[in-house]
Amino acid sequence: MDSAEAGSGRLLAISDLHVAYQENRDIVSGLRPTAPGDWLILAGDVAERVEDIAWALGVLAERFERVIWTPGNHELWTPREDTLQLRGVERYEHLVKLCRELGVTTPEDPYPVWNGTGGPVRIAPLFLLYDYTFRPEGKDTERAAMEYAYETGVVCNDEFMLHPDPHPDRATWCRERVALTERRLAQCDPAVPLLLVNHYPLVREPTRILRYPEFALWCGTEATADWHKRFNVRAMVYGHLHIPRTTWYDGVRFDEVSLGYPREWRRRQAGPAQPRDVLRAGEPA
Ligand SMILES: [Fe+2]
Ligand SMILES: [Fe+2]
Repeated sequence: MDSAEAGSGRLLAISDLHVAYQENRDIVSGLRPTAPGDWLILAGDVAERVEDIAWALGVLAERFERVIWTPGNHELWTPREDTLQLRGVERYEHLVKLCRELGVTTPEDPYPVWNGTGGPVRIAPLFLLYDYTFRPEGKDTERAAMEYAYETGVVCNDEFMLHPDPHPDRATWCRERVALTERRLAQCDPAVPLLLVNHYPLVREPTRILRYPEFALWCGTEATADWHKRFNVRAMVYGHLHIPRTTWYDGVRFDEVSLGYPREWRRRQAGPAQPRDVLRAGEPA
């Protein structure tokens, strides 16, 4: 089925479910549609091990009318203890196949159009990765930025766990993904607004409040900085930062929709984040 019936259900989004943690697994066990016809967007970091990823996607695909997934960095890790030892592109392709078996929409499928509440919007789950262009001030090359990261000790585990095979490095993989995604977006009918979904924000600004700003190196690419202006974008959904909030850039709403680790959401008065209605009305345009 390619579109929801007009007026039915809501378009919900959440990311960073990290279901290797039992408390997060319990939250996913309790996640249910608010009404028949709800769709659920998962913006990456479901889990690391393929069994955990399959469990969460399977549970949610049974409950929601449609589930749309894009990978986070954690799905792309190859943990030593995982039964799946594929690396890089092969691992991603294996996950896409798994999604298809479960009826889950991936970045490799046609972009579905939501015609329910707040629609129509074309939902584009993007898999773009990062290319080390979100560099600390004064560190003008990737090498200088990386050296600085190692000096400060703020180095993402991706460096050891997220293999770029068969690409020489993650930045090359990112550039390939950006180029092919840009072509697909340019081919979309501009009359239907886009909802862009990516594990990382398409602009750098949201990373400026990170506790360790050096970590921004692993949080996106400058190559997408103007996509929310170049294309007819209704809103952007991302995760990865584990800082759930809403910000606006050039009149476009960006929602960070992460659940995050139990130690993070336990500290928040509001408790763990619920799936966000990403087409909600009532905020400044
Ligand atoms: Fe995460
Ligand atoms: Fe992440």
